[in-house]
Amino acid sequence: MVNNSTKRRPLIIANWKLNGTSAFVSELLEGITEQWTGVHQAEVVVCPAFVHIGQASSVHLAHSNIALGAQDCSQFEEGAYTGDVSAEMLHDLGCQFVITGHSERRRFYNETDALVARKFDLAHKALMTPILCVGETPEQREAGETLAIIKRQVGAVLDYCGQEKLGRCVIAYEPLWAVGTGVTATPDQAQEVHAFIRQLLGPAGQATRIIYGGSVKPENAEALFTQPDIGGALVGGAALKADDFIEICKAAEL
Ligand code: PGA
Repeated sequence: MVNNSTKRRPLIIANWKLNGTSAFVSELLEGITEQWTGVHQAEVVVCPAFVHIGQASSVHLAHSNIALGAQDCSQFEEGAYTGDVSAEMLHDLGCQFVITGHSERRRFYNETDALVARKFDLAHKALMTPILCVGETPEQREAGETLAIIKRQVGAVLDYCGQEKLGRCVIAYEPLWAVGTGVTATPDQAQEVHAFIRQLLGPAGQATRIIYGGSVKPENAEALFTQPDIGGALVGGAALKADDFIEICKAAEL
């Protein structure tokens, strides 16, 4: 249960990363949509790979209460950028959310704070909700630099887009030492950073959904969600199994 004094709607997002064939995606979506019918407190979003977005949108999600998101978008609006997928193209296919600045993009594709801010802005312009991912490395946490890193990453988008736009998006706190490692931040560790992010956002941040990511599983979800500033989760590994993912979604219900 998300402990939500200000009535922010709980949000659970599946990040399927570079996984699955179209048959796998169909099966996974069937498993999720079958178990998530009717009216729910929590909002559920799935983010397939680009190539599976059209299939997810038209075949499975058109008549479900599950929203569609993308894992990334281009830093450009249109033109001669081979291989890129624009925010507008994603919106056109039915995406309502876009992940920006995921640690794997920052790490493996050298995405900088400035580039992330541009993508964030384009997602917003294309009428989608950007999900801004922030988080520190194990070394940075060890050196006591966690809050300074978060301030820099959030600050870059704040400077570029302003408080109001950022306040209307979603922020995911994902410590790198917890993403895909099986090690989860303790509820207290996560809450500390979530509260700090909310404070950075100023008055506009009261309504902002700040969610946690990093080895969220059915076993640890509820303890995280009872923290006052944790509004849901960005789920990687555990989102590849319909039953586990649905259990996490249920843990977020009021
Ligand atoms: P994980 O991934 O749940 O497998 O740690 C989370 C993420 O990368 O968003």
